[in-house]
Amino acid sequence: MSKRIALVTGANGGLGESMCKALHDQGRQVIGTYLPGQEEAATAWQQAMQEAGYTIEMRAVDVADFNDCQRLLTEIESEVGPIDVLVNNAGITRDAPLKKMAAEQWQAVIQTNLNSMFNMTQPIFAAMCERGFGRIVNISSLNGEKGQFGQANYSAAKAGIYGFTKAIAQEGARKGVTVNAVSPGYIDTPMVRQVPEKVLDSIVQGIPVGRLGQPEEIARAVAFLTADDAGFITGTNMSVNGGQYMA
Ligand code: CAA
Repeated sequence: MSKRIALVTGANGGLGESMCKALHDQGRQVIGTYLPGQEEAATAWQQAMQEAGYTIEMRAVDVADFNDCQRLLTEIESEVGPIDVLVNNAGITRDAPLKKMAAEQWQAVIQTNLNSMFNMTQPIFAAMCERGFGRIVNISSLNGEKGQFGQANYSAAKAGIYGFTKAIAQEGARKGVTVNAVSPGYIDTPMVRQVPEKVLDSIVQGIPVGRLGQPEEIARAVAFLTADDAGFITGTNMSVNGGQYMA
């Protein structure tokens, strides 16, 4: 049997790289996406991955743009093959307390972090159901579970992911398509390193495990949920946050 194709959005980002490696280690043919305009960085990343023994094909897409997602997904399905595993990982932050938050900051985060779920999933969902197999993991956040000062936009988008996940988990359940969320806590990535040092120090003090998480610790959850034999796990959320929030 040929390898199943796994697509990871935001592949060359802080969490995406480890996810690509874990899925590759699991025997998937991995395709990653990057933001249009970042060709140079994506090519350099792809070469570094190749040197490390990971063959990851990279394609550009703006996950905030439905038409662009539809284009990408049609191209992959006709040029490479059907997508069996989808990890909706790409996301951004535009942090500010609500009193200072501009409408653009709200819209950018909702568009990229929440509308992207629809944009990337809707065009391939019916085909996954028809083939009788699919694994979808939507990357939410600890801050979608508990809310976070300075992240009204991000917390709203990430909380919205749970509703989306649970709704389509029901739609795919009898068709072999599982849909789950993974909610990372504070992980050692460029996104988290943007948080002002003093603020981050106090956040880390509130993590029972006593440290930031590592990207590999999120990838482990993604690999678990996308495994071929994970067919009975659907509509759930896996929190990976060092004990910072226990729902
Ligand atoms: N609870 C209560 N008060 C808080 C607070 C909190 N958690 N954080 C800050 N404040 C208070 C400050 O003490 C300060 O109070 P005073 O005015 O009385 O001194 C006030 O809020 C600061 O308000 P400002 O209007 O000056 O805010 P600012 O413009 O400096 O911006 C901020 C503040 C951008 C929100 C900044 O605190 C920040 O970056 N916080 C971190 C947000 C965060 O955790 N982002 C996560 C990014 S990583 C990620 O998102 C990945 C993931 O999934 C986990």
